[in-house]
Amino acid sequence: MNKIIDPAIPRHVAIIMDGNGRWALGRGLGRLFGHRKGVEAVRRTVDAARESGISYLTLFAFSSENWKRPADEVDGIMELIATFIHRELDNYHRQNMRFQMIGERSGLSAKILRALEVAEERTRNNTGLHVVVAVNYGSRAEIAGAARALAKKVAEGRLNPDDIDEAAIGEHLDTAGLPDPDLVIRTSGEQRLSNFLLWQTAYSELVFLPCNWPDFSREMFFEALSEYARRNRRFGALSAPQAALTDT
Ligand code: IPE
Ligand code: IPE
Ligand code: MG
Repeated sequence: MNKIIDPAIPRHVAIIMDGNGRWALGRGLGRLFGHRKGVEAVRRTVDAARESGISYLTLFAFSSENWKRPADEVDGIMELIATFIHRELDNYHRQNMRFQMIGERSGLSAKILRALEVAEERTRNNTGLHVVVAVNYGSRAEIAGAARALAKKVAEGRLNPDDIDEAAIGEHLDTAGLPDPDLVIRTSGEQRLSNFLLWQTAYSELVFLPCNWPDFSREMFFEALSEYARRNRRFGALSAPQAALTDT
């Protein structure tokens, strides 16, 4: 893929795919129908992301808090994730896409873990769209894990506490090596992060959409990218025209 650096195009888009349950409920169907329909939206979104020229797409598929749901719903979601990856792997590999999982691996069933690890292993050297799937992911748990890893290194005398800076913490998160998301999209009308990439989204642009995830379309994806292009990212500094007006 020919990558042109254009500041109007986000490098990394992360999506909180929310509203499957409400989509189903509104149609008098069980929640699992919504999750199943949500898989189609994932397929559309990956295709749109590939065409858009972004480099990284992160999808929040299952949070560490989602275990609080009934077992049959949890099992159904896990099954859908494993099946989706298994089914699409050949196709995505041919398209030079790379797969990566973030989240806590312990606690996942052997089946889903294997699907994720096979996909990671097979696509490791691909250079096209990098798709990150967050499964059993919780940002606070991830940050606590980084703190533990750093503390162990200090205790073993391999790290000086004074060397613990923002970069050191970043390198101990699941997302080590990935750029921070430029744009976070959440569907379903909720306007919160729900423990998703709290460290990494410090300066991300947020776009909240009223539609439920199964209704998310390629047009909505491109409209969110247009919205991003209209935003003025300042990172605490002044925007270019304002900086030009200062007399120092
Ligand atoms: C998002 O849809 C999918 C997951 C959290 C796994 P929900 O299942 O949260 O749907 P709502 O929010 O209940 O409508
Ligand atoms: C966030 O959605 C998790 C995923 C989309 C996987 P939730 O539905 O779990 O979030 P809350 O509970 O509404 O905050
Ligand atoms: Mg939800």
